[in-house]
Amino acid sequence: MSPSEQPTARIQQHGSTSLRGRTPFSAISILAASLVALVPPGALFTALTAARAEDHPAPERRVAEDTANQAEPTDPQQQAEHIYATACAPCHGSKGDGTGPAAFSIAPHIAPRPRDFTKGTYKLRSTPSGTAPVDADLHRTIARGIPRYMPAFAALGDDAIAALVERVKGFSAKFAAPPPTSVRLPEPPAIDAGMAASGARVYEELGCAACHGPQGRGNGPAAAALRDTAGLPIWPADLAHPSWFKGGSSPADIYRTLVTGMDGTPMPGYADVFADLAPEKPWQLIAYIATLSRERGSAP
Ligand code: HEC
Ligand code: HEC
Repeated sequence: MSPSEQPTARIQQHGSTSLRGRTPFSAISILAASLVALVPPGALFTALTAARAEDHPAPERRVAEDTANQAEPTDPQQQAEHIYATACAPCHGSKGDGTGPAAFSIAPHIAPRPRDFTKGTYKLRSTPSGTAPVDADLHRTIARGIPRYMPAFAALGDDAIAALVERVKGFSAKFAAPPPTSVRLPEPPAIDAGMAASGARVYEELGCAACHGPQGRGNGPAAAALRDTAGLPIWPADLAHPSWFKGGSSPADIYRTLVTGMDGTPMPGYADVFADLAPEKPWQLIAYIATLSRERGSAP
């Protein structure tokens, strides 16, 4: 979809959750094309494959080595700078403010935009609402990527990702303070279908449907009016697509997301609420969420 087509798509989105679901895929494919056009030939490829260059057969390896010989610095910090410039800056911008040259191809007037690292506000954390993420949170995000919005960078290897974590933190003074402590999360019990019926009641009691809708399709009565902290329209997650969950879709992942919330968005943190609930109730809720999935191979 070209940017000029997007206004139509946005109007239709109000009536069609399925179209809304598809939009970011087209954004990503345009982006893939833009990245190819924008990034110096071979450089992004090198960044993505350098860590595994040893495993690659000759042609790819030659490209990687050629680029590496010309451009790649050996000092770890400079190396991180180089990877940031080639793999991250196209979306997040060289100043980390989320205005990279490829950012335009992600629907410009609705959330999410590429993160503005200078704000220090993060969705995907193990830490309490309103606090900075810890290094492990940023590491997990960069390695896993963000479904539909950001590629996974696990192939870079742990050392390069750790250096990128420092690079990203360097954009915000929020990380100068001592890091907050991750919230202690209980071990997930065995989740079974029997828990889901009680979970439907928890979903109702906690008011999830106001935003996510009675069937979890992201179309509750409050959904259309929601804005993120930048003032952009933001849609509640469609719970029928757990593989799109940005913080992961295992029971433990969902528990963490519910407890810590997604800062910068209307998705609240439920730490205080859960503290007052019987301990099995959040797990019942998570069992219920699993039944909303329409993905293949998941619960009915
Ligand atoms: C294709 C564009 C794109 C590229 C390339 C990209 N990102 Fe992102 N990134 C995004 C978008 C879009 C978001 C916001 C997603 C959201 O808020 O749901 C994001 C969010 C993030 C976040 C914030 C997650 C949170 O908890 O809120 C981090 C950290 C991040 N990116 C790091 C990186 C790093 C490091 C690189 C390079 C190795 C990179 N990104 C490359 C598009 C990109
Ligand atoms: C005020 C509106 C609102 C309420 C109430 C709300 N959510 Fe959300 N929720 C959102 C929004 C908006 C997002 C998408 C945030 C994003 O992707 O940036 C979201 C995202 C999610 C996600 C996806 C997380 C991920 O990793 O991507 C899950 C799961 C979820 N909500 C479950 C719930 C449950 C369960 C409840 C009730 C206990 C609830 N939400 C209450 C607005 C809400």
